[in-house]
This record gives sequence, structure tokens and C-alpha cells, in this order.
Amino acid sequence: MEARPPVLAIVVVALCVVSICGGVAHGAAVTYNVKNYGAKGNGATDDTKALMAAWKVACAAAGAVTLQVPAGVYYMGPAQFHGPCKASSLTFLLQGTLKAATDLSRFGNDWIEFGWVKGLIVAGQNGAAFDGQGAASWPFNKCPIRKDCKVLPTSVLFVNNENTVVKDISSVNSKFFHFALLQNKNTQMINLRINAPGNSPNTDGVHIERCSGVTIVDTKISTGDDCISIGQGNDNIDIQRVTCGPGHGMSVGSLGRYVGEGDVTRVHVKDMTFDGTMNGVRIKTWENSPTKSLAAHMVFESLVMKDVQNPVIIDQKYCPYYNCEHKYVSGVTIKNVTFKNIKGTSSLPVAVLLRCGMPCLGVVLQDLDLKFKGAGTTSSKCENAKAKYVGYMYPKPCV
Ligand SMILES: *[C@@H]1O[C@H](CO)[C@@H](O)[C@H](O)[C@H]1NC(C)=O
Repeated sequence: MEARPPVLAIVVVALCVVSICGGVAHGAAVTYNVKNYGAKGNGATDDTKALMAAWKVACAAAGAVTLQVPAGVYYMGPAQFHGPCKASSLTFLLQGTLKAATDLSRFGNDWIEFGWVKGLIVAGQNGAAFDGQGAASWPFNKCPIRKDCKVLPTSVLFVNNENTVVKDISSVNSKFFHFALLQNKNTQMINLRINAPGNSPNTDGVHIERCSGVTIVDTKISTGDDCISIGQGNDNIDIQRVTCGPGHGMSVGSLGRYVGEGDVTRVHVKDMTFDGTMNGVRIKTWENSPTKSLAAHMVFESLVMKDVQNPVIIDQKYCPYYNCEHKYVSGVTIKNVTFKNIKGTSSLPVAVLLRCGMPCLGVVLQDLDLKFKGAGTTSSKCENAKAKYVGYMYPKPCV
């Protein structure tokens, strides 16, 4: 964007109509720089209004539009970047850091919100980052111990978008989740770096809910909770070359807790590494579900476990609190799930736990090699699993 030929730029600017002359046009593309809308990027001035004003102009422009946030630190309260936009594609080009305000009373459920946009690209350059400044608010988060807790704001929420790309960007120290994808169609997340301390509460890397078509590739996630969590109502999720740790690992769920939850179908997870995480790949569902749903057609393959507590786990009696009811089995039916080519070390003796409520249908384990990290052996534990075993199997299958 910076290397445009100056002569062409001058000609195009001279020709551009008054209404879009706040941006610099080149060819069919136009770039708006947030500094021209009052953003300071000095780390202290509140730039929320300036960025939202610049977005509004960019969103109303036609063609391939870029909203440029140049190098600098932008102190930001909650900001909504909403469509519908006129642009055929709209690039939010972050070349600096967005730094979150710490006064929690300013926030609702999230910090930066991209919503109702088609063809949105959120791209980072030169070490671009979302800095949630979570350390100041983690002590106020009671969710890990209380069911009726107030949730803290998610750093970056994508809601109701279509054809989104998020690439080459970091998220550090979110107050709650780093990224949440809610009700989007076709989202690609490429080359992200997600970071929070291993003991920070609910700092899930990417949480996905009611989406279709999500791809997450070439990404490294170190956090205090789930690396990627695939919640209810998702279809066609593809995750490849993602490294997790520290944190709780990759999870489908938790499912089956609320009324009206949708099915989770077609999940493909490949070439992941888990380093020192609590779980590797886990499907977790609650008991006493008010609604029936399906978790089906999933493949977890070519995974490396390094000292992971529970490398392979289906838990249909998921209960993070000490007093859960055990009245009815989970309403979530687990069907057609394959765990294949999973190698490495387990830091607890039970390397494979398949705890199904209603019997699981069509669980396949193929070529597992999970050794105990110290001296000793690993084992499998099953309830109503009815699994099929193929190829090399260590630990030995449940009898
Ligand atoms: C099982 O799931 C895989 C992966 O989504 C899919 O390709 C396959 O068709 C499913 N098989 C059945 C019998 O549904």
C-alpha cells in the first residue's frame, strides 16, 4: 500500500469525487488512514471515537477499501466496526497495537467488534497486536468457580460476517476470550499468535459458535483456557497446523447445557501439537441437557502430544463445578468420530478416556502411541464407548 506510484496517486486524488477524498485512491482501491480522522496512536489519548469515525467513512466507500491503522499504540475502549458496508472488500490493516482500556465499567461483552460485514479482511503488519490488558481484570473473574458469574469482555468478536479473513496478527492478554466467532459464514484465520499466561482465567484462544465454514491454520496459541473451543451450532470446521500450550487444549464443547443448542458437525483437526496442556483433543458435554443435539462427523488426526494430562478424551459427564446434578445422561449424541495417528506422551496414566452417556456411535481409534511421560504405563478407560480399534494401539484398548 505504501509503495504506490506517487504520480498515479496524485492523478487519482485529483479525480476523486468530493465524498471520498478523505481517502487516498489508487486504481479501484482507496485507503483511509485513521490519523486523518483524529487518531493519535500515542498510547494515552483515547482513540475509540476516531477509529470508529474512520471506519464509518471507509464502510460507506465503494470498491476495494483499506482502513489503515499505522504504527503506534491506540488506546481503545469498546469499539464497534459494523456493516453493512458498501465496499466489495474492506481491509482493516493494523500496523500497530490496539490497547484496551482497563476500566471494566466501560465494557459490555466485548472490546473490539466486527459485525455484519461481507468481505472483511483484518490483516496485521509489523507485529500488529490486540492487547487486551487482561491482567488488571483477571482477579474479578469468578467464572472458573461460579456458574452464575459476570463474564468479562472478549477481546475481538466477529459476529454475522460473511467471507472474513483474519491474518498475521497477535492477540495478547485478553480479559476473557481472545477471539470469538459468532454466527459467521466462511471465516479464515491464518498465522495468528495468541498469548496469555497459563494461569489466566477463561482466556480461550478462539471460541466458535453457530458458524459454518471456519478455517484456522498456521497458528500458535498459549493461554490459560481452551486453545480452540468449538461450541454449539457449528458446521464444517477445519483446523490445521496449530500449536497449543500452555492451556486446556482443543475442545469441542462444552455442549448440551442450554435450551435450543444446535448440532456440531464436520470437524476436521489435523497436524496439531499440544505442549504441556491439560487436554489434547476433547469432546465435552453436560448431563441433564434441556435439548437434544448431535456432535458428529469429526476427524482428529496427526497430532503430537508432549506431556499432556488427557491426550484423548470424550467426557459426557462434564462438570467444572463441584456440585453438578447427575439426573439424566447428556442429551448430546456423539456419532462418527475418528482419532487417528496420535503420538507422544501423557503426563497422567489414563491417556485415552472415553466416557459416553448414551452409547457413542461409531468412535474409531486408529494408530495411537501415547506413552507415559515417566516410568510406567498408560491405560484406556471407557464407559458406553463401543469404540472400534484399528492399527497400532498403545495404550491397550478398553476391554
Ligand atoms: C463420518 O465423518 C466423516 C468426516 O466428516 C465423513 O467424511 C463421513 O462421510 C462420515 N461417515 C458417515 C457414515 O456419516
